[in-house]
Amino acid sequence: MNAPLQGHTVSKPNATAQALLSVNKVSLEYRTRQRVVRATHQVSFEIDLADRFVLLGPSGCGKSTLLKAAAGFIQPVEGEIRLQGQRVDAPGPDRIVVFQEFDQLPPWKTVKQNVMFALLASKTLKRKEAEERALHYLEKVGLAAFAEAYPHTLSGGMKARVAIARALAMQPKILLMDEPFAALDALTRRKMQEELLLLWEEVRFTLLFVTHSIEEALVVGNRILLLSPHPGRVRAEVHSHQYDLHSLGGVAFQASARRIHRLLFDEGQSPETERELDFADIRIAY
Ligand SMILES: Nc1ncnc2c1ncn2[C@@H]1O[C@H](COP(=O)(O)OP(=O)(O)OP(=O)(O)O)[C@@H](O)[C@H]1O
Ligand SMILES: [Mg+2]
Repeated sequence: MNAPLQGHTVSKPNATAQALLSVNKVSLEYRTRQRVVRATHQVSFEIDLADRFVLLGPSGCGKSTLLKAAAGFIQPVEGEIRLQGQRVDAPGPDRIVVFQEFDQLPPWKTVKQNVMFALLASKTLKRKEAEERALHYLEKVGLAAFAEAYPHTLSGGMKARVAIARALAMQPKILLMDEPFAALDALTRRKMQEELLLLWEEVRFTLLFVTHSIEEALVVGNRILLLSPHPGRVRAEVHSHQYDLHSLGGVAFQASARRIHRLLFDEGQSPETERELDFADIRIAY
């Protein structure tokens, strides 16, 4: 069984009737000449405006595939994805993806030109406005002084900030991030998580964030969808809005992390046992 978790209606009484992004019983597959690989099986979730929604699960459970489907690069074989009620069937400037590799920045363009590029290419803005908008978001990520620098002169953390500024400059309806900090060292990663939260406090964008780190999920997300191993199915949804970087190492934070770990990896555990242990902030799908 893989019961859809109609999360926001139960847990967020003030939510509007329509979710910003709704993923309804979505199965995703890769077809090669030899075989069909099912990446996710009937996954459902709903993301509301200004959510920081995290997809968490082991390697190969289909997190990146789900994100690509939300971006419109892959079509479901079953179910559907809607953004503000409109079926997602192609990529669009209302959904911008930030990937893990920072060498996604063309090296021959300056930082500012990198941020302006999508705005100009999509004809969203004229050159002057694009430049103003680029500088505005570079300032928000603390890189105003590096607008004229070339990407190869930046550290990994700085490249990550440029990628975030470039995405936010498009003012998408939802920002899609696939393990954006995974290539960074532990200290820089933590710093980037903190900056992302500060930026969210200021801009209040809607975020779909993929990670396989339980700790990162608890820090970054206000809601976390736990996916079972390959093919990914919804295991549970966790409410984690109470945590931030200051919660790291705290008793409640550690208890939530342990429970998530059990849900993700103790496949043998019976649902009854889990339900007895249920926390108010976790809802189990199966
Ligand atoms: N281009 C592809 N062709 C065939 N199968 C693929 C392709 N990309 C991914 N898969 C398969 O689909 C499944 C889900 O892959 P996906 O990359 O979405 O996992 P993931 O959860 O993002 O993993 P990770 O944490 O390692 O990034 C895996 O079994 C993977 O082998
Ligand atoms: Mg992935």
